[in-house]
Amino acid sequence: MNLGASVRVNKCGVCVLMTLMVMVVLLYKYGNNTEFKREVVSLRSLLSAAIDAAERGGRVVYDIREAATLHEQSKGKTKEGANDPVTDGDIKSHLTMFFSLQKSFPAIKIISEEHSLNDVDVSSVSPAALLHPEVTAAIPEDQMVPAGDIRVWIDPLDATQEYTENLREYVTTMVCVAVRGHPTIGVIHKPFSKSTAWAWVGKGVSPALRQTGNQGVVKNDIAHIIVSRSHAGDVKTVATAAFGEKTEVIPAGGAGYKTLAVVEGKADAYVHSTAIKKWDLCAGNAVLFALHGNMTTLGGDPLDYGSQEEYKNEGGVLATLTNHTYYLQKLQVLAGKAAKAA
Ligand SMILES: *[C@@H]1O[C@H](CO)[C@@H](O)[C@H](O)[C@H]1NC(C)=O
Ligand SMILES: *[C@@H]1O[C@H](CO)[C@@H](O)[C@H](O)[C@H]1NC(C)=O
Repeated sequence: MNLGASVRVNKCGVCVLMTLMVMVVLLYKYGNNTEFKREVVSLRSLLSAAIDAAERGGRVVYDIREAATLHEQSKGKTKEGANDPVTDGDIKSHLTMFFSLQKSFPAIKIISEEHSLNDVDVSSVSPAALLHPEVTAAIPEDQMVPAGDIRVWIDPLDATQEYTENLREYVTTMVCVAVRGHPTIGVIHKPFSKSTAWAWVGKGVSPALRQTGNQGVVKNDIAHIIVSRSHAGDVKTVATAAFGEKTEVIPAGGAGYKTLAVVEGKADAYVHSTAIKKWDLCAGNAVLFALHGNMTTLGGDPLDYGSQEEYKNEGGVLATLTNHTYYLQKLQVLAGKAAKAA
């Protein structure tokens, strides 16, 4: 009896010891790893914060344009040889958006088009607000997600070239929340009309987006294709070949603007045939998904927003609200070209 009891105690002791050892190993392995974020985050609060950040960035962009203190510089040339400008609007909006979000959600990885210099003082940037009345009204149910599964993509000023040309309508500020690589929350703010479109896939959209109505069918046999005014590539030739002479190609600035144009029914499809960065696309992708639209490469592949290193999309872009497959088929020629260029 005594022997049995002591063996039982020993067995138990071994178990405890083993558990402790496993815990020590796990702590050692993950304790200092910044990627291992066990903290859970409220996506509803993050959506509110994303709206606040986009609107605050927008105010910075607006004020600098009004004061005409852009201090334009060049980041070099794009692959297509176009000038790639950066202004104080981009940088200061970045500081406001990036640090307001980071102060509210220190555990989340935030990826921005711009980088902050080391010696800037961001103590005056207040944390992004976690409660937005529109969100509270539209989204009754929250969702908690581990911080490590989240990537936030921000574009502090989309359509910088147009911004320098004072083509104000094309300019947006954008925030996107990707969960395990999937675009889940998208915010597109237009600073000069002071309007904000937001969407959370499967949960709800902003009041303005509830009234949008793209019928999806090529209207009066005319396909309205919206493309970039700075690097239209050969979309026009291909679109005309695909949809006939009655194709209307609408040149416009900014990926955020063009995606919203599709959502609003001003265009049937947004087509981009050259390389493009994912902070330009993520928010619009989430908005389209929330409205049962689609965004893919020209080859029909979904875009993954899970990795900062893979911030470039080389396969071209097709964005539609309906009839995605139809447009994919029609634009096959462009898909081949985008694949070859990549
Ligand atoms: C897609 O577009 C084609 C061409 O206009 C049209 O015939 C078809 O009905 C559309 N499908 C849907 C689901 O809208
Ligand atoms: C988007 O389109 C692709 C290619 O046709 C398809 O595989 C995918 O399921 C679509 N996604 C959504 C959310 O409709």
